[in-house]
Amino acid sequence: MKFHVLTLFPEMFETMNHSIMKRAQDQSLISLNVINIRDFSTNKHKKVDDYPYGGGAGMVMQVQPIADALETTSGRVIYMTPKGRVFDQVFAKELALEEEIVFLCGHYEGVDQRVIDKYVTDEVSIGDFVLTGGELPAMVMMDAVARLKDGVLGQNVSYEDESHYNGLLEYPHYTRPADYEGMKVPDVLLSGNHQKIEDFRLEESIKLTASRRPDMIKKYAKRDLSKKEMKILKKYLDK
Ligand code: ADE
Repeated sequence: MKFHVLTLFPEMFETMNHSIMKRAQDQSLISLNVINIRDFSTNKHKKVDDYPYGGGAGMVMQVQPIADALETTSGRVIYMTPKGRVFDQVFAKELALEEEIVFLCGHYEGVDQRVIDKYVTDEVSIGDFVLTGGELPAMVMMDAVARLKDGVLGQNVSYEDESHYNGLLEYPHYTRPADYEGMKVPDVLLSGNHQKIEDFRLEESIKLTASRRPDMIKKYAKRDLSKKEMKILKKYLDK
């Protein structure tokens, strides 16, 4: 999978050269093509922004350098903006099926609307807050998408229990010691009874989701649930 990134701050993507994202690149499972928009400016001072028509605060990124940079790429073009559709795990799974994705990172007041009209396929936000630029959001999305590609997290990993995978938040985890200053690991996890452990984890997931994310539990309740799931759900929905 190939990620192209158009940015005025290419050095920020050094962050991708660590940990699992570094290993994924070393193993050629993903590749990252960071493009400095300024390199495409035909202006003699390498200018990339100008004052907004109609007045107002801030500067707007101009069409020409972005358009020329985009012409060197292919794939879906995602513009990072707080005005966009909010990113989530369902969207991450959809994007993980793509071969190439282009991330356009805006700065200042954003980019000239004509860039969006001509090239952008998706306007995406990573949440209802405003950041100084699209670089961190692009890295957030790349991380979420890349880890879904086969081999990136290693072999035999399963996503099924993760938060958001099945519409629930994940159950809590414990490791040794079984007793930390009187705080004990739930007995069932030490029992070796796999069915009981699975039931316990499902209940913990439903309980947590019901208390923390009423929006998610409402959607979950509308699903085609097993008898067991229904029974647990009822217990926590009424609370
Ligand atoms: N740029 C600035 N804020 C943003 C956000 N919340 N999501 C995506 N891009 C952004």
